[in-house]
Amino acid sequence: MERKEFLMQCGAACFSASLLATWLQSCDVKKAVVASYSDNQLSVPLSSFYTEKDGNKKWKRSVVLRHEKTAFPIAVFRYKEGEYKALLLRCTHQGSELNMYGDLITCTAHGSEFSNKGEVTKGPAETSLEQYPVHTDDQNIYIRIA
Ligand code: FES
Repeated sequence: MERKEFLMQCGAACFSASLLATWLQSCDVKKAVVASYSDNQLSVPLSSFYTEKDGNKKWKRSVVLRHEKTAFPIAVFRYKEGEYKALLLRCTHQGSELNMYGDLITCTAHGSEFSNKGEVTKGPAETSLEQYPVHTDDQNIYIRIA
């Protein structure tokens, strides 16, 4: 192998490793918001879904919630204004906790993948993720868990 070829391969490997590290650090489950609980529902401030700069809101596509009332985190996706879906991040194959990378929900146990609507996109899981009803008001998002 020539020196130039070796250096190009090393550079490509280093670049790939840095991309992988960035991708792994972006796991949304590790950045979970702690929800409040009352009347069989979890709530989080609507402001958890956006950042604001110069009076403009930049909406996030999803927020992950954690609370001791649920054994697994819950992903809340925002598809458009007023349209949300709450998905339990528990794999429907054998119950492992799922990871989120943007709109992709994955299971490291056996490789199942789910869409941001909770549908199976890759097995071995065969059933969609458990969902919870969501409603909002001017201040909060509420997820009914019982
Ligand atoms: S537990 Fe998730 S794929 Fe098996």
